Amino acid sequence: MGLLSKREQPPKKTAAEGNCGTYLGIVSLLSLIYLNINNLTFSSSVEPKISFVERNGTTFMLDGRPFYVNGWNSYWLMDQAVDEKSRGRVTEMFKAGRDLGLTVCRTWGFNDGTYHALQVSLGRFDEEVFKALDRVIAEARQHGIRLLLSLVNNLQAMGGKSQYVRWAIEEGIGLTSSNDSFFFDPSIRIYFKSYIKTILTRKNHLNGIEYRDDPTIFAWELINEPQCTSDQSGDTLQDWIEEMSQFVKSIDKKHLLTIGLEGFYGSKSSKEKLSVNPGEWYKTTGSDFIRNNKISTIDFTSVHIYPDQWLEEADLQEKMEYVNKWVSSHIEDGDKELGKPVMFTEFGLSNNIIDFDHSQREAFYKSIFDAVYDSAKENGAGSGALIWQFLVRGMEEYNDDFGVVPGERPSLDKLIKDQSCRLAKLNYGKDLGGRSLKNFC
Ligand SMILES: *[C@@H]1O[C@H](CO)[C@@H](O)[C@H](O)[C@H]1NC(C)=O
Ligand SMILES: *[C@@H]1O[C@H](CO)[C@@H](O)[C@H](O)[C@H]1NC(C)=O
Repeated sequence: MGLLSKREQPPKKTAAEGNCGTYLGIVSLLSLIYLNINNLTFSSSVEPKISFVERNGTTFMLDGRPFYVNGWNSYWLMDQAVDEKSRGRVTEMFKAGRDLGLTVCRTWGFNDGTYHALQVSLGRFDEEVFKALDRVIAEARQHGIRLLLSLVNNLQAMGGKSQYVRWAIEEGIGLTSSNDSFFFDPSIRIYFKSYIKTILTRKNHLNGIEYRDDPTIFAWELINEPQCTSDQSGDTLQDWIEEMSQFVKSIDKKHLLTIGLEGFYGSKSSKEKLSVNPGEWYKTTGSDFIRNNKISTIDFTSVHIYPDQWLEEADLQEKMEYVNKWVSSHIEDGDKELGKPVMFTEFGLSNNIIDFDHSQREAFYKSIFDAVYDSAKENGAGSGALIWQFLVRGMEEYNDDFGVVPGERPSLDKLIKDQSCRLAKLNYGKDLGGRSLKNFC
């Protein structure tokens, strides 16, 4: 948010192989029993067997079928999983997501130098916080949820790029005060790569799986909402994305990778595309939706949608019209220019606007859901949307003016479930492949 913030093989248990006579018979019998016991343990296994999400052109794929996503953001999962007293909120959140038929949750895979920091100081990690992230990942799998994990924040919340810059200054390097030196300083690039490597090769203490081998992770996101206004040509950010995405792929070829962009068009864009930006200023962010996403090591695109922040003067009707233009422009880019899936990884309507009414938020959500569905049913690039943001009860200090607690508004819950169901039908066919979603679809 702007202001704040190939199938995994089950372990092969080789049955003993006999070589002659009765011995063979007994061994076969034993292995049969052994296999049965094995099957039992697998069917009641605490680690459900799941596959990696892949992509074919503009479509996410799972087990050879399209995978259109209805999901949400809860940035706070790792933080809340550290202390035993708040850990239950993570479970509660995953249950609530699953009960709405949601399949992907985007969350922070970082906390640099603030309270409950994962990276306490440069290259030093808090094992207790890492265990909390292990727990979040293992629990997500239990609930049939996949995670989109972001690796750093462009903004200050939970450390972000300015924390890396402070660390560099403490080390006596990168002595420019610009926070954008996160992108251009060679030493800071090395710090961040070291962070990437530590996360990707982390072995989960609960199940022994390295993060890079864990299909519970839907994808990696390089950075939340990158902007590098100090180089409006866009070359600095482009170069950084190239280097970092190649680095991720050199360690992990199994997971999809996205940048984490908001979706603005850069200063060299066509007149037509520039007119889709929310205003004149937005071409100066140093990012460019098309150019950045063309990089071959980037698998899919992300787009954020915040009409209240972008068009403060507009009324709801104008905002909704603008959002339609913004959304369809990016889906068109995915289809025609990029050949990659387009995922709306954050969208929210503020309750801080004059005359806010929940029906407005529902109408806004519905317009995003419809755009994704209309594209998906024609095999278009519109591939999913993640609500910003979900909380559970009693988390006011984690809220902003976009937060939603599932279960509080039946009409909103129904809207979300309906989207889950129609996307699930595209994914699995009308009978939903006998999935548990059937219970409410
Ligand atoms: C990938 O998509 C193309 C069409 O774009 C299709 O012909 C092909 O069968 C798809 N491959 C898989 C594995 O679904
Ligand atoms: C860098 O970021 C910090 C924290 O967000 C801020 O206080 C500082 O003013 C920024 N520095 C520059 C040069 O913009």
